[in-house]
Amino acid sequence: MKDEGWRAQVRQHEAAGFSPRDPAFVADPYAVFDVLRRVGRPVWDDDLGLWLAATYADADAVLRDRRLGRIFSPRRSAGDVDVWDTFNWLHADSILDSEPPQHTRLRSLVAKAFARGHIERLRPRVRQLADGLLDELPGGTGSGPPDLIADYAEPLPVMVIAELLGIPGGDRPLLRPWSQAIVKMYEYDRTPAAEQEAQTASAEFAAYIGELARQRRSHPGDDLVSHLVAVTDAGERLSERELVATCVLLLNAGHEASVNGFGNGMVALLKHPAELARLRADPWGLAATAVEEFLRYDAPLHLFERTAKADTEIGGVPVRAGEKVAALLGSANRDPAVFADADRLDVGRDPNPHIGFGGGIHFCLGAPLARLELQISLPLLLERYPRLAPAAEPVLRDTFVLRDYHSIPLDLGES
Ligand code: HEM
Repeated sequence: MKDEGWRAQVRQHEAAGFSPRDPAFVADPYAVFDVLRRVGRPVWDDDLGLWLAATYADADAVLRDRRLGRIFSPRRSAGDVDVWDTFNWLHADSILDSEPPQHTRLRSLVAKAFARGHIERLRPRVRQLADGLLDELPGGTGSGPPDLIADYAEPLPVMVIAELLGIPGGDRPLLRPWSQAIVKMYEYDRTPAAEQEAQTASAEFAAYIGELARQRRSHPGDDLVSHLVAVTDAGERLSERELVATCVLLLNAGHEASVNGFGNGMVALLKHPAELARLRADPWGLAATAVEEFLRYDAPLHLFERTAKADTEIGGVPVRAGEKVAALLGSANRDPAVFADADRLDVGRDPNPHIGFGGGIHFCLGAPLARLELQISLPLLLERYPRLAPAAEPVLRDTFVLRDYHSIPLDLGES
């Protein structure tokens, strides 16, 4: 049978080494992506129980095909108390994990706040925050040399998204640990300890936002939480849970990939001295193309799943209703059918139709904000510290779906 034939062929691909739980694969998945792309159609992964769409055309089709949806599968627990309850509704009631008509309604409530024109007004503030962090960079916050992640790439987007939502300054250190505990659940190698941390983080984060919303109800401010509270109170368009889930999603999505996109790109840049020199010579002129190239070359988000709502077909392969398909964004972004010299970092690459921000109805809502932050923070860093170099080997985390560095020690070249 044709269907079974496809699946059998794919087992070869386990031999190709696609193995998100294997640190060696995670350290450098690109050679394996190359093998997967050469097959020229989606391949079945027996271990994960889903189709892998590795070419640009197939991954893009997965994101856009409306017969495939983001269908959230609630997590279940064996015991009496449903320990996953908050984690589950934080997802089921969010923009990212819903489908029309809920998705359309939720997205439209916040879309205006993240539209390019609106976001552009934040430019001076983002620059001011980035400047402040760069002033502090030589001292660093840790005991060793300054760390690009902890001292610059991470605090900037956290501050920006927290300000937009109106999170009090003193509470901001809570956000990243909560977010990181929750996003660990998107990986395929979850430990029981990580599951428990995600449950606790979900409960604490939801309770925190719920309390903040109550405060904003009596003392509204000029922030997104107050705006969403007003929307909720004005009619039936946003439930309490949807409000909390939306804020948690914005806070998480609003910094995770921005931190990692910057970190991954900087590690690549430091390994390509000619491109670094080129960018140093014209940091503001090349900022826009360099940022897109960062997101293409070593994507911060590698895999997004969809579930077939009806029988469909991707790249000539039949996908049955209920089956899952994964779009491999990092692989698509290295597809030589679309990108000349795809494995080469080119900070001036133009055009650069990468799908690092996704595609279709779930296309990243925060893309204008992420671009603004990165297009300011990157040239500013290179301008302030023109002799910047690695102080030690960067430390990559062993997660596949979210690809990121734990630390990138810097020698600022000042002495
Ligand atoms: C470099 C940084 C970023 C990257 C690479 C990125 C990437 C993505 C991708 C690939 C998706 C689509 C997921 C899918 O199709 O299943 C997405 C969705 C989303 N992103 Fe981003 N993102 C970034 C920054 C941000 C920021 C700063 C925000 C701030 C609000 C944000 C908010 C969202 C939201 C709310 C969604 C869900 C949209 C929907 O389902 O309609 N992202 N992002």
